[in-house]
Amino acid sequence: MKKLCTKINGLVGCMNVPGDKSISHRALLIGAMSYGDTIIKNLSHGKDCLTTIKVLKKLGVEIIESRNNVVVVGKGINNFLPPKNPLAMGNSGTTARLMMGILSGAEFDTILIGDKSLSRRPMKRVSAPLKYFGGQIKLFKDDTLPAIINGQKLHNAEVYMDVVSAQVKSALIFAALQSEQESVIHEKLPTRNHTEILLNKFGAKIETSEDGRTIRVFPSLRLVGQFVDIPGDISSAAFFLVAGAIVKNSKLILKEVGLNPTRTGILDVLKRMNAKISISMIERNEEPFGDITVETSNLKAITLDKDDIPNVIDELPLVALLAACARGKSSISGAKELRFKESDRIVAIVKELKKLGVKVVEREDGMDIWGQENWNVNDNILSSHGDHRIGMMLAIAALKAQEEIYLVNEGIVSISYPNFFDDLMKIIV
Ligand code: S3P
Repeated sequence: MKKLCTKINGLVGCMNVPGDKSISHRALLIGAMSYGDTIIKNLSHGKDCLTTIKVLKKLGVEIIESRNNVVVVGKGINNFLPPKNPLAMGNSGTTARLMMGILSGAEFDTILIGDKSLSRRPMKRVSAPLKYFGGQIKLFKDDTLPAIINGQKLHNAEVYMDVVSAQVKSALIFAALQSEQESVIHEKLPTRNHTEILLNKFGAKIETSEDGRTIRVFPSLRLVGQFVDIPGDISSAAFFLVAGAIVKNSKLILKEVGLNPTRTGILDVLKRMNAKISISMIERNEEPFGDITVETSNLKAITLDKDDIPNVIDELPLVALLAACARGKSSISGAKELRFKESDRIVAIVKELKKLGVKVVEREDGMDIWGQENWNVNDNILSSHGDHRIGMMLAIAALKAQEEIYLVNEGIVSISYPNFFDDLMKIIV
């Protein structure tokens, strides 16, 4: 249990956040699938990405970790070795789901296992559409890990995805790459496109329609290792952007943050809520990035519906916190996916914000929140629910409290942001 910082005078500083977690996973995986060295700068050192490294090593991939860079010595996807034991996916949904797409086409069988949280998360959303490519995956109770992947020769397919998910889309793209003809994947709403961007950089041919919802994948197993410079993770920067907006006397600058338009929903939310933020783009290469400045703001309520969700999916706990500090009633709907994250995030957000005295009502696919100037804390022992993003959101929420607040299972933040509490301490005045 950790005593959180409360009763502070403001937040001031200029900071860098860790490398983007989604891009880090993909750089490691695609590097391993390629031929030659992939040099990765600013890889996320969160536990989830370490899981991807460990899993690739178990598949016989050499990965060299130096102080500044990580080098993946790629020998091609066909040279993965059969692992001796089940592969442990830890807490990482991204590793598990993307691996299913990759290993469906392997010449051997694999078993994937996960921790308690990952073992309750749905996996049929990946195994079912992979069947169209010839993938064969058996799941425990038809939906969860452990998974037995019977490696097969895959063929092309045209697939209409049911679930809006970049993880599922990425697994299907990895399967499509291993077939012999062109495949087409249709999404209901566009999701983060880091897999498509990186694969094209590594020499594959992936085309995306103007509306971002149709992805055409041409087979390619001749990927070539590259240098990948990973921008700061906007999902980690978001904790400080929200902190800067809700804590009095604050001004923060977040440096070199990834600004891929499929990920910047939180910036749109902040602007719509009247937050004082400004963005300066540094460079527009395959993954754009820039600096973001935020100052204490007079926030107004917001309504988010299903079309807004994919672009802000990981930041919804923070949107709830912003709403709790804004004038008026806010609503989040069309966000049932939150129930299938590292925790049931709708339950976790509602339960923990209520302890802080926030007026919030749970809905099946979201929540309603009434903002207040000050909260009357009901219970000062909060829980992360074993979920990194809930733990960090609560640490930011506590900055507003006028009494002692404690957080149970705070160590979980290391899943995506091992230095989160140290970085927070550095900007408190
Ligand atoms: C991720 C996609 C999202 C996100 C997760 C990371 C990714 O999940 O919530 O934290 O790296 O592809 P879904 O695609 O399942 O929504």
